[in-house]
Amino acid sequence: MPTGQFQPKLIIHGGAGSSLKGKGGVEAVRQSLYAVIQDVYALLLSGASAEAAVVRGCELLEDDPRFNAGTGSVLQSDGQIRMSASLMNGMAQRFSGVINVSRVKNPINLAQFLQDSDDRILSDHGSAELLRELQIPAYDPLTELRLQEWILERQGNFSKEMAGVVAEKELVTEAGRGTIGVVVLDSQGRLAAGTSTGGKGFERIGRVSDSAMPAGNYATAHAAVSCTGIGEDIIDECLAARIVVRVTDGLPLSEALARSFLEAHQHNRDFGAIAIDAHGAIGWGKTSEVLLAAYHDGDRIGDTLELPTGLQTGASDG
Ligand code: GLY
Repeated sequence: MPTGQFQPKLIIHGGAGSSLKGKGGVEAVRQSLYAVIQDVYALLLSGASAEAAVVRGCELLEDDPRFNAGTGSVLQSDGQIRMSASLMNGMAQRFSGVINVSRVKNPINLAQFLQDSDDRILSDHGSAELLRELQIPAYDPLTELRLQEWILERQGNFSKEMAGVVAEKELVTEAGRGTIGVVVLDSQGRLAAGTSTGGKGFERIGRVSDSAMPAGNYATAHAAVSCTGIGEDIIDECLAARIVVRVTDGLPLSEALARSFLEAHQHNRDFGAIAIDAHGAIGWGKTSEVLLAAYHDGDRIGDTLELPTGLQTGASDG
């Protein structure tokens, strides 16, 4: 039983895209997501804070090589892995994150450390310095599968001038929409959101993902949202902040999602989002074909893995 007065709520995602092919199929993804849901929900029932539960969920998803974050991150145009992650504490309304960090197992841990720092968002150089300062051991998140994907995609393209440093649109793979995210309402009624990614894959060096921006990850005391999909589309809609502000201004979560995703559909955007509001409503939306999300509403575990393709939104009652 929860130790506080609220029934904890949890929703997580492992990306969005046009198929589940590269991720081992529906059942394999479901198994991965449900294992994380069970672990994090047990933590919430033991009284963990929303922030701690978000960090735990992000760590588990970053450690699963199926998803494009932490171990299993995709390679950029020059064959390097650069990851981004952010954490937002809704009660404190405080954002922290790292952009394009390398050689670390769990980028979300850096975002968590930065919650209590004066300088709360670090780019590549600052993140590397912080890793050294905290004496976090170097870790190579590369998997054989990601290396082979990169080699395959690059075949026949090395003759192009600048091939090593530019992103070529036709080479952006399914992993390009991959991200992980966790949104929580804890037993004290506190909200938090976390998002982590290896980026689009094959992107230009220095490209900045939405995952470490309030466009991709945002929370107040009223609502919390994590996004996944094409980062540039998420930034253009300022999606996470847009949904959260609508709820903060009094719209029900279901309506905030429906409006935001209808606008996104009209703008031909390709992404998804997960959300929880302060009343405990759990919601999601997508314009992409699939959204790899799963949730625990206090009574049962459910998911969005087999929704019809294209524009869809949904929210439970709070
Ligand atoms: N949404 C992940 C990215 O585009 O980097």
